[in-house]
Amino acid sequence: MRLILLGPPGAGKGTQAQRLEAAHGLAQLSTGDMLRAAIAADTEVGRRAKDIMARGELVSDDVVVGIIADRIGEADCANGFILDGFPRTVAQAEALDAMLAARDIALDAVVEMKVDEEALVDRVTGRYTCAQCGAGYHDRNIKPARDGVCDRCAGTEFSRREDDNEASVRTRLEAYNGQTAPLLPYYAARGVLKGVDGMADPDAVTTEIAAVLGVGLSG
Ligand code: AP5
Ligand code: MG
Repeated sequence: MRLILLGPPGAGKGTQAQRLEAAHGLAQLSTGDMLRAAIAADTEVGRRAKDIMARGELVSDDVVVGIIADRIGEADCANGFILDGFPRTVAQAEALDAMLAARDIALDAVVEMKVDEEALVDRVTGRYTCAQCGAGYHDRNIKPARDGVCDRCAGTEFSRREDDNEASVRTRLEAYNGQTAPLLPYYAARGVLKGVDGMADPDAVTTEIAAVLGVGLSG
């Protein structure tokens, strides 16, 4: 299965992509995570992206299209993948169409995570992740079972993103509304767009995504 999770910052794309990856063996392809890895490794791409990301603006189409074009050819994508944070502009969507056509594969669904903008600043500024395995948490909404200990790997170090502050979230929301929201009619016209209620609790969102995709919750 090949999916896109579409939604503004804090909609829950990463949270649900991790669950889909674990349940269905699909590769999570998060351009945000890949760019953060490039920054951490101090590569040329990372140096170009660092300040743009901190401000909450979009990195150029050619950079992210190049990253995804390389990534979808890797072995772990053969069983399918979840695009998390890509495409974000019509130009990226057109480049993705060309990449998929060249490989003779098709998108199964684009899942729009519908959320109230007012909730997003709280979600994003409360977010933290396990520094060891990347599992995502929130100060109030999604806490590990044992305070300070990751549920998935028992790690005790956590990190916060440089762009998870209110000013950056507001810029990211503007970028979403101006540049990414036009993808909704783009995919609706192709008959692949599905919507889910991203304001429900995380387990209910997982259940609704499985239902709109017509798959079980595991396996
Ligand atoms: P990216 O990393 O993709 O960030 P984003 O789109 O701003 O989205 P987030 O990761 O902030 O939110 P999410 O939807 O994954 O939410 P999460 O599941 O973590 O991109 C970062 C930057 O990289 C961009 O600004 C841009 O500069 C650049 N970039 C990346 N891709 C690009 C592209 N294609 N083109 C150009 N530039 C690109 O959840 C958020 C919080 O809420 C968590 O704490 C979570 O625990 C909690 N939560 C999740 N679900 C729920 C729920 N149902 N109820 C309550 N809390 C919940
Ligand atoms: Mg994310």
